[in-house]
This record gives sequence, C-alpha cells and structure tokens, in this order.
Amino acid sequence: MTAVFWAFAGYLAGSCPTGFLVAKYIKGADIRAFGSGNIGATNVGRLMGKRWAVAVAVFDMLKGGLAVLAASCFISDPTILALTGVCAVLGHNFPLWLGFRGGKGVATTFGVIGFYNFFMPWPAIIGGIIWYAVMKTTKYVSVASMVGLLAAAGLTACFGMPRPYTAASFFLALLSVWRHRANIVRLKNGTESKVKS
Ligand code: G3P
Repeated sequence: MTAVFWAFAGYLAGSCPTGFLVAKYIKGADIRAFGSGNIGATNVGRLMGKRWAVAVAVFDMLKGGLAVLAASCFISDPTILALTGVCAVLGHNFPLWLGFRGGKGVATTFGVIGFYNFFMPWPAIIGGIIWYAVMKTTKYVSVASMVGLLAAAGLTACFGMPRPYTAASFFLALLSVWRHRANIVRLKNGTESKVKS
C-alpha cells in the first residue's frame, strides 16, 4: 500500500507539465506546436530563450527530486524510493493532464538520481557536468542528454549506491534514449538542430 501511495504521488508530481504551462501562460503559445514539439526545457529555450529554459529545467529536476525526498522523509526502503522516482519521470513523460503525451524526462531523471540519496548527489552532478561538456562540444542537446543520463546511471553503480537506485537509473536513462528516437533519426539524417552557443 505504501509503495502504491508513493508511486502515485511521484507520478502526480512528475505530471506537472512545467514547460507546457510556462509557454502557455507566459508566452501564450502551445509548446507542442513549436520546434521539436517537446514540452521540455530545450524546446522552451527555443521559444522563450535561455533563462526560461533554465527555469523549466530546474523546476523539472525539483519535481522529481522533491518527490523522492518527500518519500524518504517517511520511508527508507530503497525499492520504494526507486519506484517513486521512476513514477515521477513516467509522470513527466506521460502526463495525465496532456493526454499522456509529455517529454523525454531528462531534467526529471537528473533530479531523481540526484535525490535518491541526499548525501550522494555525485552521480547526477558528474552526469550533469558530462551533459554540459557534450552539449558544448557537439552543440546537440539530445546527444548530451543521452550521454549524460547513461553516465549518471553508470556512476550510481561506481559510487556503490543500492541496487534499486542503479536499476531505476539505468531504466530511466534507457527510457530517455527511447524517448529521443525522433532525435536519433534526425541526427542520422543531419537535420537535428544545434544550440547556438
Ligand atoms: O531534454 C530534451 C533534449 O534532450 C532534446 O530536446 O526539444 O531537441 O527534442 P528536443
């Protein structure tokens, strides 16, 4: 019962479609009809600039991270905490409020991995640094996101985090790769858009 409660709470927290709401209420636009059509920070950045992209990324990280942190105040079972994080990302990717058509879960996954153990944020932080380095080098956010998340998942194992966290992190990283399948096709075709700076 506890697991079901936190899974549902995580899903609801992740379901808050930050990028969609910001674009709709600040810019009056439907982000799903713009750029890549994604509701994530990268596409918000295309529509509204870097500051809004950062704001959406931070909020999307926190909605996943804080769901896990809230659960960890009441329970200590890593399996239930891992499940809470997974459900938060599922909420972002398949939000109740947008007909289950959401984002790619990059920022929310970083937030979840970062908060699985409040005192062990290094896999997410180092994964984020790798994300930044790959983004600056290749100019492709999608490539940076896939590499950064897979690296963060691998680092949970290197840092000896409990198995449920590592399993959940790999599941979420691979889920995000799958959610990037249109980006992968564009990368192959040479039509994926690059960031400006
Ligand atoms: O965080 C999503 C990013 O990796 C790709 O976004 O809009 O280029 O599909 P987008």
